Amino acid sequence: MNLKQQAAQCALEYVQSGMRVGLGSGSTASIFIDLLGAKLQRGELHGIRAVATSLASERLAQSLGISLHTLADLGQLDIAVDGADEVDPALDLIKGLGRAALREKIIESHADQLIIIVDEAKLTPRLGRGPLPVEIIPFEAPVQVRWLASLGCRAELWREADGQAVVTDNGNYLVRCWFEAGIADAWALARQLADRPGVVEHGLFLGMADRVVVAGESGLKILERQL
Ligand code: 5RP
Repeated sequence: MNLKQQAAQCALEYVQSGMRVGLGSGSTASIFIDLLGAKLQRGELHGIRAVATSLASERLAQSLGISLHTLADLGQLDIAVDGADEVDPALDLIKGLGRAALREKIIESHADQLIIIVDEAKLTPRLGRGPLPVEIIPFEAPVQVRWLASLGCRAELWREADGQAVVTDNGNYLVRCWFEAGIADAWALARQLADRPGVVEHGLFLGMADRVVVAGESGLKILERQL
């Protein structure tokens, strides 16, 4: 098993029959969805009702026969399992390089327990080692890109290889923001982004993860958020 598979397998142990489960997005979350589907098919779990955080995860879950619902139907979730792009020592995260942060945040903020599954390369002493994705509405997008750059980062509209702007499942654009020395105060930045008209969501997931399962060459570690 590779590291992502080990982390996903470990998170699966937290899922009990009858639970309402949020399904994350990205390659690690997809492994989790595969494993969940296989466990259901073996009859080792039953009564799982799931909500997907992206169209890709929805398609995958559907193909595995996982029972899919809306958050409106389920109300609250018992657990959500997802990957992350960066994890800091406080278990704050950058997510969204899989382009799904908005739906992930909506769904995962309704989970009693959020479990993040990563390989050890995702651990960082400070968030902002890589780009922070920010979802903006297409209307007047260059104005948002300029404003984001004024926060002290290099901000670029995320484009496909053919030059077209990346469009999210929600019909929005994404900007990637590179902070040269990392993000000095992630909570302050999150507040600035939340207050900005035209910014729909951002990839800072602060105070949300309850556990992070980290798979490394020397084994698995489960980090728990200190309350
Ligand atoms: C999607 C995400 C992913 O969870 C994140 O990008 C990690 O992806 P991967 O498991 O493929 O490394 O936030 O929006």
